[in-house]
Amino acid sequence: METLISKYREATEQVDPIKYVGHITKVQGLLIESRGPVGVIGELCRIEAPKGPGMILAEVVGLRDKTVQLMAYQETNGIEVGNRVIASGRTLEVPVSNALLGRVLDAQGKPSDGKGGIRADQYYPAMAQAPDPLKRKGVTQRICTGVRAIDGVLAVGRGQRLGIFAGSGVGKSTLLGMIARNTNAAVNVVALIGERGREVNDFITNDLGPEGLARSVIVVSPSNAPPLARLRGAYVATAVAEYFRDQGLDVMLLFDSVTRFARAQREIGLAIGEPPATRGYTPSMFDQMPKLLERCGTSERGTITGFYTVLVDGDDMDEPVADTARGILDGHIVLSRSLAQAFHYPAIDVLASVSRLAPIVSGPLTTKAAGALRRLMAVYAENQDLINVGAYHTGANPAIDEAIMKHGAIEEFLIQGVDEKSTIAQTLTMMAAISGSTIPDEEMQVYRKEANPGDFLRADPEEDPFFDEPEGREAGTTRNHAR
Ligand SMILES: Nc1ncnc2c1ncn2[C@@H]1O[C@H](COP(=O)(O)OP(=O)(O)O)[C@@H](O)[C@H]1O
Ligand SMILES: [Mg+2]
Repeated sequence: METLISKYREATEQVDPIKYVGHITKVQGLLIESRGPVGVIGELCRIEAPKGPGMILAEVVGLRDKTVQLMAYQETNGIEVGNRVIASGRTLEVPVSNALLGRVLDAQGKPSDGKGGIRADQYYPAMAQAPDPLKRKGVTQRICTGVRAIDGVLAVGRGQRLGIFAGSGVGKSTLLGMIARNTNAAVNVVALIGERGREVNDFITNDLGPEGLARSVIVVSPSNAPPLARLRGAYVATAVAEYFRDQGLDVMLLFDSVTRFARAQREIGLAIGEPPATRGYTPSMFDQMPKLLERCGTSERGTITGFYTVLVDGDDMDEPVADTARGILDGHIVLSRSLAQAFHYPAIDVLASVSRLAPIVSGPLTTKAAGALRRLMAVYAENQDLINVGAYHTGANPAIDEAIMKHGAIEEFLIQGVDEKSTIAQTLTMMAAISGSTIPDEEMQVYRKEANPGDFLRADPEEDPFFDEPEGREAGTTRNHAR
Protein backbone atom coordinates (compact mmCIF):
# COMPACT_ATOMS: atom_id res chain seq x y z
CA MET A 1 0.00 0.00 0.00
CA GLU A 2 2.73 2.38 1.03
CA THR A 3 4.63 1.68 -2.18
CA LEU A 4 1.50 2.30 -4.25
CA ILE A 5 0.97 5.71 -2.69
CA SER A 6 4.58 6.69 -3.08
CA LYS A 7 4.37 5.69 -6.71
CA TYR A 8 1.53 8.14 -7.28
CA ARG A 9 3.29 10.77 -5.23
CA GLU A 10 6.32 10.36 -7.41
CA ALA A 11 4.22 10.66 -10.53
CA THR A 12 2.51 13.86 -9.38
CA GLU A 13 5.83 15.35 -8.40
CA GLN A 14 7.09 14.78 -11.89
CA VAL A 15 4.29 16.86 -13.32
CA ASP A 16 5.59 20.36 -13.25
CA PRO A 17 2.75 22.85 -13.34
CA ILE A 18 5.27 25.65 -13.44
CA LYS A 19 6.22 24.68 -16.98
CA TYR A 20 2.90 25.93 -18.29
CA VAL A 21 3.09 29.24 -16.51
CA GLY A 22 5.60 31.93 -17.34
CA HIS A 23 6.20 35.51 -16.29
CA ILE A 24 6.35 38.67 -18.32
CA THR A 25 9.84 40.11 -18.60
CA LYS A 26 9.38 42.80 -21.22
CA VAL A 27 6.78 44.62 -23.28
CA GLN A 28 8.13 46.58 -26.18
CA GLY A 29 5.78 47.91 -28.77
CA LEU A 30 3.87 44.96 -30.13
CA LEU A 31 6.23 42.42 -28.71
CA ILE A 32 5.70 40.82 -25.34
CA GLU A 33 8.44 38.66 -23.84
CA SER A 34 8.22 36.24 -20.99
CA ARG A 35 10.33 33.69 -19.20
CA GLY A 36 8.31 30.54 -19.87
CA PRO A 37 5.81 29.01 -20.32
CA VAL A 38 6.86 25.96 -22.31
CA GLY A 39 4.92 26.28 -25.52
CA VAL A 40 5.08 25.88 -29.24
CA ILE A 41 4.82 28.56 -31.91
CA GLY A 42 1.18 29.38 -32.47
CA GLU A 43 0.10 28.27 -29.00
CA LEU A 44 -2.52 30.43 -27.33
CA CYS A 45 -1.62 31.89 -23.97
CA ARG A 46 -3.47 34.03 -21.51
CA ILE A 47 -1.71 36.92 -19.89
CA GLU A 48 -3.07 37.96 -16.54
CA ALA A 49 -3.28 41.73 -16.47
CA PRO A 50 -5.14 42.82 -13.37
CA LYS A 51 -4.31 46.47 -14.09
CA GLY A 52 -5.55 46.12 -17.65
CA PRO A 53 -8.56 44.21 -18.96
CA GLY A 54 -7.91 41.29 -16.58
CA MET A 55 -6.99 38.72 -19.22
CA ILE A 56 -5.28 39.27 -22.53
CA LEU A 57 -5.24 36.61 -25.21
CA ALA A 58 -1.86 36.20 -26.84
CA GLU A 59 -0.02 33.78 -29.04
CA VAL A 60 3.52 32.46 -29.08
CA VAL A 61 5.20 33.96 -32.14
CA GLY A 62 8.83 33.22 -31.42
CA LEU A 63 11.17 31.36 -29.12
CA ARG A 64 14.57 32.78 -28.41
CA ASP A 65 16.89 31.07 -25.92
CA LYS A 66 14.78 30.91 -22.77
CA THR A 67 12.57 33.77 -23.83
CA VAL A 68 9.10 33.27 -25.21
CA GLN A 69 7.97 35.97 -27.62
CA LEU A 70 4.27 36.68 -27.67
CA MET A 71 1.86 38.90 -29.51
CA ALA A 72 -1.56 39.85 -28.28
CA TYR A 73 -4.91 39.72 -30.04
CA GLN A 74 -5.89 42.93 -28.34
CA GLU A 75 -4.35 46.06 -26.87
CA THR A 76 -1.49 45.38 -24.49
CA ASN A 77 -2.27 48.22 -22.06
CA GLY A 78 -2.05 47.14 -18.45
CA ILE A 79 0.55 44.39 -18.78
CA GLU A 80 3.30 44.56 -16.17
CA VAL A 81 6.61 42.81 -15.75
CA GLY A 82 6.01 39.73 -13.63
CA ASN A 83 2.41 39.13 -14.77
CA ARG A 84 1.64 35.47 -15.26
CA VAL A 85 1.44 33.94 -18.73
CA ILE A 86 -0.52 30.72 -18.88
CA ALA A 87 -0.12 28.37 -21.83
CA SER A 88 -3.32 26.74 -23.03
CA GLY A 89 -1.79 23.83 -24.92
CA ARG A 90 -4.00 24.73 -27.88
CA THR A 91 -3.65 26.68 -31.07
CA LEU A 92 -6.43 28.87 -32.44
CA GLU A 93 -9.55 26.93 -33.36
CA VAL A 94 -12.72 28.18 -35.00
CA PRO A 95 -16.15 27.00 -33.89
CA VAL A 96 -17.95 26.03 -37.09
CA SER A 97 -21.49 25.13 -38.05
CA ASN A 98 -24.08 26.11 -40.61
CA ALA A 99 -25.33 28.67 -38.10
CA LEU A 100 -22.36 30.82 -39.17
CA LEU A 101 -24.29 31.93 -42.25
CA GLY A 102 -25.34 35.55 -42.12
CA ARG A 103 -22.96 36.22 -39.26
CA VAL A 104 -19.96 38.46 -38.71
CA LEU A 105 -16.97 37.04 -36.86
CA ASP A 106 -13.86 38.57 -35.40
CA ALA A 107 -10.28 37.43 -35.81
CA GLN A 108 -10.75 34.69 -33.24
CA GLY A 109 -13.86 33.35 -34.95
CA LYS A 110 -16.19 34.79 -32.31
CA PRO A 111 -19.40 36.57 -33.35
CA SER A 112 -18.98 40.33 -33.39
CA ASP A 113 -22.35 41.39 -34.75
CA GLY A 114 -24.20 41.42 -31.45
CA LYS A 115 -26.59 38.71 -32.64
CA GLY A 116 -25.70 36.31 -29.88
CA GLY A 117 -23.61 33.18 -29.65
CA ILE A 118 -23.25 30.63 -32.41
CA ARG A 119 -23.99 26.99 -31.85
CA ALA A 120 -20.93 25.06 -33.01
CA ASP A 121 -20.85 21.43 -34.04
CA GLN A 122 -17.11 21.26 -34.48
CA TYR A 123 -13.89 23.17 -34.14
CA TYR A 124 -11.58 23.71 -37.07
CA PRO A 125 -7.93 24.67 -36.67
CA ALA A 126 -7.30 28.19 -37.92
CA MET A 127 -3.84 27.21 -39.12
CA ALA A 128 -4.29 24.12 -41.24
CA GLN A 129 -2.41 22.36 -43.97
CA ALA A 130 -3.52 22.71 -47.56
CA PRO A 131 -5.18 19.58 -48.97
CA ASP A 132 -2.81 16.92 -50.27
CA PRO A 133 -2.05 18.02 -53.83
CA LEU A 134 -2.26 14.45 -55.07
CA LYS A 135 -5.77 14.02 -53.71
CA ARG A 136 -7.12 17.31 -54.95
CA LYS A 137 -9.66 17.15 -57.71
CA GLY A 138 -8.89 19.15 -60.80
CA VAL A 139 -10.71 22.35 -61.61
CA THR A 140 -13.15 21.35 -64.31
CA GLN A 141 -16.39 23.26 -63.89
CA ARG A 142 -17.19 26.88 -64.26
CA ILE A 143 -18.41 28.99 -61.38
CA CYS A 144 -20.57 32.00 -62.19
CA THR A 145 -19.96 35.43 -60.75
CA GLY A 146 -22.83 37.25 -62.41
CA VAL A 147 -20.29 39.78 -63.70
CA ARG A 148 -20.21 39.78 -67.51
CA ALA A 149 -16.60 40.82 -67.95
CA ILE A 150 -15.52 37.89 -65.77
CA ASP A 151 -17.96 35.20 -66.87
CA GLY A 152 -17.53 36.15 -70.50
CA VAL A 153 -13.83 36.70 -71.11
CA LEU A 154 -12.24 35.63 -67.83
CA ALA A 155 -14.16 32.45 -67.02
CA VAL A 156 -13.41 31.15 -63.55
CA GLY A 157 -13.44 27.51 -62.44
CA ARG A 158 -14.70 26.12 -59.18
CA GLY A 159 -11.64 25.95 -56.99
CA GLN A 160 -9.63 28.48 -58.96
CA ARG A 161 -7.67 31.21 -57.17
CA LEU A 162 -7.51 34.67 -58.65
CA GLY A 163 -6.03 37.97 -57.65
CA ILE A 164 -7.84 41.26 -58.09
CA PHE A 165 -5.05 43.78 -58.55
CA ALA A 166 -6.09 47.34 -57.98
CA GLY A 167 -5.29 50.63 -56.38
CA SER A 168 -7.55 52.07 -53.73
CA GLY A 169 -10.94 53.39 -54.65
CA VAL A 170 -11.26 51.75 -58.06
CA GLY A 171 -14.09 49.43 -57.11
CA LYS A 172 -12.68 46.32 -55.41
CA SER A 173 -15.26 46.21 -52.65
CA THR A 174 -18.09 46.95 -55.05
CA LEU A 175 -16.95 44.14 -57.33
CA LEU A 176 -16.59 41.66 -54.47
CA GLY A 177 -20.09 42.62 -53.34
CA MET A 178 -21.49 42.00 -56.82
CA ILE A 179 -19.84 38.59 -56.93
CA ALA A 180 -21.10 37.70 -53.46
CA ARG A 181 -24.67 38.59 -54.36
CA ASN A 182 -24.75 36.96 -57.77
CA THR A 183 -22.51 33.92 -57.66
CA ASN A 184 -23.93 30.42 -57.87
CA ALA A 185 -21.53 29.27 -55.15
CA ALA A 186 -23.44 27.87 -52.19
CA VAL A 187 -21.66 29.92 -49.58
CA ASN A 188 -19.53 33.05 -49.53
CA VAL A 189 -16.86 33.61 -46.96
CA VAL A 190 -15.76 37.22 -46.93
CA ALA A 191 -12.50 38.13 -45.23
CA LEU A 192 -12.14 41.83 -44.53
CA ILE A 193 -8.57 42.13 -43.36
CA GLY A 194 -7.11 45.48 -42.43
CA GLU A 195 -9.96 47.58 -43.79
CA ARG A 196 -11.04 50.69 -41.96
CA GLY A 197 -14.05 50.23 -39.72
CA ARG A 198 -16.22 52.47 -41.87
CA GLU A 199 -15.36 50.48 -44.98
CA VAL A 200 -16.38 47.29 -43.21
CA ASN A 201 -19.83 48.64 -42.36
CA ASP A 202 -20.20 50.04 -45.86
CA PHE A 203 -19.36 46.70 -47.34
CA ILE A 204 -21.80 44.77 -45.20
CA THR A 205 -24.73 47.13 -45.56
CA ASN A 206 -24.25 48.47 -49.10
CA ASP A 207 -22.09 46.13 -51.16
CA LEU A 208 -23.32 42.86 -49.71
CA GLY A 209 -26.81 43.82 -48.62
CA PRO A 210 -29.20 41.49 -46.79
CA GLU A 211 -29.46 39.16 -49.78
CA GLY A 212 -25.70 38.63 -49.97
CA LEU A 213 -25.28 38.45 -46.21
CA ALA A 214 -27.80 35.64 -45.85
CA ARG A 215 -25.50 33.18 -47.53
CA SER A 216 -22.23 34.67 -46.39
CA VAL A 217 -19.98 34.48 -43.40
CA ILE A 218 -17.95 37.63 -42.82
CA VAL A 219 -14.68 37.64 -40.93
CA VAL A 220 -13.45 41.08 -39.97
CA SER A 221 -10.15 42.23 -38.54
CA PRO A 222 -10.06 45.95 -39.12
CA SER A 223 -7.00 48.11 -39.58
CA ASN A 224 -6.99 49.22 -35.95
CA ALA A 225 -6.69 45.64 -34.70
CA PRO A 226 -3.19 44.49 -33.66
CA PRO A 227 -1.26 42.78 -36.48
CA LEU A 228 -1.74 39.34 -34.96
CA ALA A 229 -5.49 39.77 -35.14
CA ARG A 230 -5.30 40.92 -38.75
CA LEU A 231 -3.17 37.92 -39.57
CA ARG A 232 -5.34 35.41 -37.79
CA GLY A 233 -8.54 36.82 -39.27
CA ALA A 234 -7.21 35.62 -42.61
CA TYR A 235 -6.69 32.12 -41.26
CA VAL A 236 -10.04 32.05 -39.51
CA ALA A 237 -11.84 32.99 -42.73
CA THR A 238 -9.97 30.28 -44.59
CA ALA A 239 -10.87 27.72 -41.92
CA VAL A 240 -14.56 28.66 -42.20
CA ALA A 241 -14.35 28.19 -45.97
CA GLU A 242 -12.69 24.81 -45.41
CA TYR A 243 -15.54 23.74 -43.16
CA PHE A 244 -18.11 24.40 -45.88
CA ARG A 245 -15.87 22.81 -48.51
CA ASP A 246 -15.65 19.68 -46.36
CA GLN A 247 -19.41 19.39 -46.71
CA GLY A 248 -18.99 19.01 -50.42
CA LEU A 249 -20.03 22.56 -51.23
CA ASP A 250 -18.73 25.12 -53.67
CA VAL A 251 -17.50 27.99 -51.58
CA MET A 252 -16.55 31.48 -52.70
CA LEU A 253 -13.80 33.07 -50.63
CA LEU A 254 -13.68 36.82 -51.14
CA PHE A 255 -10.54 38.08 -49.50
CA ASP A 256 -9.82 41.79 -49.09
CA SER A 257 -6.88 42.26 -48.92
CA VAL A 258 -3.88 40.02 -49.19
CA THR A 259 -1.65 43.10 -49.06
CA ARG A 260 -2.89 44.01 -45.61
CA PHE A 261 -2.38 40.39 -44.54
CA ALA A 262 1.21 40.58 -45.80
CA ARG A 263 1.76 43.88 -44.03
CA ALA A 264 0.54 42.40 -40.74
CA GLN A 265 3.00 39.56 -41.21
CA ARG A 266 5.71 42.12 -41.88
CA GLU A 267 4.92 44.04 -38.69
CA ILE A 268 5.16 40.85 -36.67
CA GLY A 269 8.29 39.68 -38.46
CA LEU A 270 10.08 42.96 -37.83
CA ALA A 271 8.96 43.07 -34.19
CA ILE A 272 10.38 39.64 -33.45
CA GLY A 273 13.64 40.54 -35.10
CA GLU A 274 13.44 38.91 -38.51
CA PRO A 275 15.71 40.48 -41.09
CA PRO A 276 13.86 42.61 -43.62
CA ALA A 277 14.26 41.32 -47.16
CA THR A 278 12.47 43.08 -50.01
CA ARG A 279 10.88 46.45 -49.15
CA GLY A 280 10.91 45.62 -45.48
CA TYR A 281 8.99 42.38 -45.93
CA THR A 282 10.53 39.66 -43.82
CA PRO A 283 11.05 36.05 -44.92
CA SER A 284 7.98 34.91 -42.98
CA MET A 285 5.71 36.83 -45.36
CA PHE A 286 7.14 34.98 -48.34
CA ASP A 287 6.70 31.75 -46.38
CA GLN A 288 3.19 32.36 -45.01
CA MET A 289 1.43 33.81 -48.03
CA PRO A 290 1.74 30.70 -50.22
CA LYS A 291 0.60 28.57 -47.29
CA LEU A 292 -2.51 30.66 -46.85
CA LEU A 293 -3.41 30.82 -50.53
CA GLU A 294 -2.74 27.12 -51.09
CA ARG A 295 -5.50 26.22 -48.64
CA CYS A 296 -8.00 27.61 -51.08
CA GLY A 297 -8.89 25.53 -54.13
CA THR A 298 -10.31 22.07 -54.59
CA SER A 299 -10.17 19.25 -52.09
CA GLU A 300 -11.40 15.68 -52.33
CA ARG A 301 -14.90 16.84 -51.47
CA GLY A 302 -15.71 20.39 -52.48
CA THR A 303 -14.15 23.58 -53.76
CA ILE A 304 -13.12 27.01 -52.56
CA THR A 305 -12.89 29.57 -55.31
CA GLY A 306 -10.78 32.46 -54.12
CA PHE A 307 -10.74 36.09 -55.13
CA TYR A 308 -7.87 37.80 -53.32
CA THR A 309 -7.47 41.54 -53.66
CA VAL A 310 -3.97 42.90 -53.94
CA LEU A 311 -3.31 46.62 -53.57
CA VAL A 312 -1.05 47.93 -56.27
CA ASP A 313 0.20 51.46 -55.88
CA GLY A 314 0.69 53.26 -59.15
CA ASP A 315 0.28 50.06 -61.17
CA ASP A 316 3.45 48.60 -59.70
CA MET A 317 2.78 44.94 -60.39
CA ASP A 318 6.32 43.99 -59.37
CA GLU A 319 5.91 45.11 -55.80
CA PRO A 320 6.75 42.07 -53.56
CA VAL A 321 3.21 41.20 -52.44
CA ALA A 322 1.78 41.50 -55.95
CA ASP A 323 4.67 39.55 -57.36
CA THR A 324 4.43 36.73 -54.81
CA ALA A 325 0.64 36.53 -55.16
CA ARG A 326 0.81 36.43 -58.94
CA GLY A 327 3.14 33.46 -58.78
CA ILE A 328 0.72 31.44 -56.66
CA LEU A 329 -2.61 32.40 -58.16
CA ASP A 330 -4.21 30.94 -61.28
CA GLY A 331 -5.09 34.24 -62.78
CA HIS A 332 -5.34 37.95 -62.18
CA ILE A 333 -7.99 40.53 -62.76
CA VAL A 334 -6.62 44.03 -63.07
CA LEU A 335 -8.78 47.00 -62.17
CA SER A 336 -7.74 50.16 -63.92
CA ARG A 337 -7.97 53.63 -62.51
CA SER A 338 -8.41 55.20 -65.92
CA LEU A 339 -11.44 53.01 -66.60
CA ALA A 340 -12.88 53.94 -63.21
CA GLN A 341 -12.28 57.60 -63.95
CA ALA A 342 -14.13 57.20 -67.22
CA PHE A 343 -16.97 55.69 -65.19
CA HIS A 344 -16.43 52.35 -66.90
CA TYR A 345 -17.50 50.03 -64.07
CA PRO A 346 -16.56 47.37 -63.13
CA ALA A 347 -13.18 48.85 -64.07
CA ILE A 348 -11.76 45.54 -65.27
CA ASP A 349 -8.89 45.96 -67.71
CA VAL A 350 -9.70 42.88 -69.74
CA LEU A 351 -6.58 42.92 -71.87
CA ALA A 352 -4.33 43.09 -68.81
CA SER A 353 -6.24 40.31 -67.05
CA VAL A 354 -5.91 36.56 -67.39
CA SER A 355 -7.80 33.58 -66.08
CA ARG A 356 -5.47 30.68 -66.66
CA LEU A 357 -8.20 28.09 -66.36
CA ALA A 358 -10.74 29.78 -68.61
CA PRO A 359 -10.12 27.44 -71.55
CA ILE A 360 -10.60 24.43 -69.28
CA VAL A 361 -13.89 25.50 -67.74
CA SER A 362 -15.58 26.97 -70.79
CA GLY A 363 -16.71 25.17 -73.91
CA PRO A 364 -14.75 25.47 -77.18
CA LEU A 365 -17.13 27.92 -78.84
CA THR A 366 -17.25 30.07 -75.72
CA THR A 367 -13.46 30.19 -75.70
CA LYS A 368 -13.49 31.15 -79.36
CA ALA A 369 -16.01 33.93 -78.83
CA ALA A 370 -14.00 35.26 -75.88
CA GLY A 371 -10.87 35.19 -78.02
CA ALA A 372 -12.63 37.13 -80.76
CA LEU A 373 -13.73 39.76 -78.27
CA ARG A 374 -10.20 40.12 -76.93
CA ARG A 375 -8.81 40.48 -80.43
CA LEU A 376 -11.31 43.21 -81.27
CA MET A 377 -10.37 45.01 -78.08
CA ALA A 378 -6.66 44.65 -78.74
CA VAL A 379 -6.96 46.02 -82.26
CA TYR A 380 -9.00 48.95 -80.99
CA ALA A 381 -6.54 49.66 -78.16
CA GLU A 382 -3.57 49.56 -80.53
CA ASN A 383 -5.15 52.05 -82.87
CA GLN A 384 -6.99 54.11 -80.34
CA ASP A 385 -4.76 57.14 -80.69
CA LEU A 386 -5.19 57.20 -84.43
CA ILE A 387 -8.91 56.69 -84.14
CA ASN A 388 -9.32 59.40 -81.54
CA VAL A 389 -7.52 62.08 -83.53
CA GLY A 390 -9.42 61.11 -86.65
CA ALA A 391 -6.26 59.94 -88.43
CA TYR A 392 -7.77 56.58 -89.25
CA HIS A 393 -9.87 56.42 -92.39
CA THR A 394 -12.60 53.84 -92.61
CA GLY A 395 -11.87 51.13 -95.15
CA ALA A 396 -8.10 51.23 -94.72
CA ASN A 397 -8.02 48.04 -92.70
CA PRO A 398 -10.96 45.64 -92.29
CA ALA A 399 -9.80 44.47 -88.83
CA ILE A 400 -9.71 48.03 -87.53
CA ASP A 401 -13.04 48.76 -89.18
CA GLU A 402 -14.60 45.84 -87.36
CA ALA A 403 -13.00 46.85 -84.06
CA ILE A 404 -14.39 50.35 -84.41
CA MET A 405 -17.80 49.10 -85.44
CA LYS A 406 -18.09 46.75 -82.48
CA HIS A 407 -16.45 49.00 -79.92
CA GLY A 408 -19.74 50.34 -78.61
CA ALA A 409 -21.27 46.89 -78.24
CA ILE A 410 -18.20 45.65 -76.38
CA GLU A 411 -18.34 48.60 -73.98
CA GLU A 412 -21.99 47.88 -73.39
CA PHE A 413 -21.13 44.27 -72.67
CA LEU A 414 -18.35 45.11 -70.21
CA ILE A 415 -20.05 47.96 -68.39
CA GLN A 416 -22.47 46.65 -65.83
CA GLY A 417 -24.50 48.38 -63.17
CA VAL A 418 -23.93 47.41 -59.57
CA ASP A 419 -27.43 45.98 -59.24
CA GLU A 420 -27.53 44.41 -62.64
CA LYS A 421 -27.22 40.66 -62.53
CA SER A 422 -26.29 38.81 -65.65
CA THR A 423 -26.93 35.09 -65.83
CA ILE A 424 -24.38 32.97 -67.64
CA ALA A 425 -26.82 32.43 -70.51
CA GLN A 426 -27.35 36.18 -70.92
CA THR A 427 -23.62 36.85 -70.73
CA LEU A 428 -22.65 34.21 -73.26
CA THR A 429 -25.47 35.10 -75.64
CA MET A 430 -24.43 38.74 -75.60
CA MET A 431 -20.78 37.85 -76.13
CA ALA A 432 -21.60 35.48 -78.97
CA ALA A 433 -23.65 38.14 -80.71
CA ILE A 434 -20.70 40.56 -80.68
CA SER A 435 -18.26 38.01 -82.04
CA GLY A 436 -20.82 36.97 -84.65
CA SER A 437 -21.00 33.37 -83.47
CA THR A 438 -23.51 31.19 -81.69
CA ILE A 439 -22.73 29.42 -78.46
CA PRO A 440 -24.61 26.12 -78.30
CA ASP A 441 -26.94 25.44 -75.45
CA GLU A 442 -24.85 22.67 -73.96
CA GLU A 443 -22.00 25.10 -73.31
CA MET A 444 -24.32 27.18 -71.16
CA GLN A 445 -26.55 24.46 -69.82
CA VAL A 446 -24.38 22.97 -67.12
CA TYR A 447 -23.87 26.37 -65.65
CA ARG A 448 -27.28 27.83 -66.07
CA LYS A 449 -28.72 26.78 -62.75
CA GLU A 450 -28.94 29.70 -60.38
CA ALA A 451 -28.10 29.48 -56.74
CA ASN A 452 -30.95 29.31 -54.33
CA PRO A 453 -29.65 30.68 -51.05
CA GLY A 454 -29.95 28.26 -48.20
CA ASP A 455 -31.00 25.35 -50.38
CA PHE A 456 -27.96 23.34 -49.53
CA LEU A 457 -28.89 23.44 -45.87
CA ARG A 458 -31.54 20.81 -46.46
CA ALA A 459 -30.87 17.74 -44.42
CA ASP A 460 -28.96 15.73 -46.96
CA PRO A 461 -26.37 17.52 -49.05
CA GLU A 462 -26.63 14.68 -51.57
CA GLU A 463 -30.19 15.77 -52.26
CA ASP A 464 -29.14 19.31 -52.78
CA PRO A 465 -30.78 20.71 -55.89
CA PHE A 466 -28.01 23.25 -56.16
CA PHE A 467 -25.50 20.81 -57.48
CA ASP A 468 -25.27 20.02 -61.09
CA GLU A 469 -26.52 16.59 -61.91
CA PRO A 470 -23.84 14.04 -62.65
CA GLU A 471 -23.11 13.71 -66.31
CA GLY A 472 -25.55 11.67 -68.32
CA ARG A 473 -28.45 12.37 -66.03
CA GLU A 474 -31.36 14.60 -66.74
CA ALA A 475 -31.67 17.66 -64.59
CA GLY A 476 -34.42 17.30 -62.05
CA THR A 477 -34.21 13.55 -61.58
CA THR A 478 -33.41 12.21 -58.15
CA ARG A 479 -29.79 11.67 -57.50
CA ASN A 480 -28.67 8.10 -57.15
CA HIS A 481 -27.22 7.56 -53.70
CA ALA A 482 -25.37 4.38 -54.56
CA ARG A 483 -22.16 5.57 -56.09
N1 LIG B 1 -19.68 49.16 -60.36
C1 LIG B 1 -19.68 50.44 -59.97
N2 LIG B 1 -20.61 51.29 -60.45
C2 LIG B 1 -20.61 52.59 -60.08
N3 LIG B 1 -19.71 53.13 -59.24
C3 LIG B 1 -18.76 52.34 -58.74
C4 LIG B 1 -18.69 50.96 -59.08
N4 LIG B 1 -17.64 50.42 -58.44
C5 LIG B 1 -17.08 51.42 -57.73
N5 LIG B 1 -17.75 52.58 -57.90
C6 LIG B 1 -17.42 53.88 -57.29
O1 LIG B 1 -16.10 53.86 -56.79
C7 LIG B 1 -16.08 54.10 -55.39
C8 LIG B 1 -15.05 53.23 -54.71
O2 LIG B 1 -15.40 51.86 -54.86
P1 LIG B 1 -14.93 50.75 -53.83
O3 LIG B 1 -15.54 49.49 -54.29
O4 LIG B 1 -15.20 51.16 -52.44
O5 LIG B 1 -13.38 50.77 -54.12
P2 LIG B 1 -12.19 50.03 -53.34
O6 LIG B 1 -12.77 48.94 -52.55
O7 LIG B 1 -11.31 49.57 -54.45
O8 LIG B 1 -11.52 51.07 -52.52
C9 LIG B 1 -17.49 53.81 -54.95
O9 LIG B 1 -17.85 54.56 -53.83
C10 LIG B 1 -18.31 54.20 -56.15
O10 LIG B 1 -18.54 55.57 -56.15
MG1 LIG C 1 -12.61 48.62 -50.49
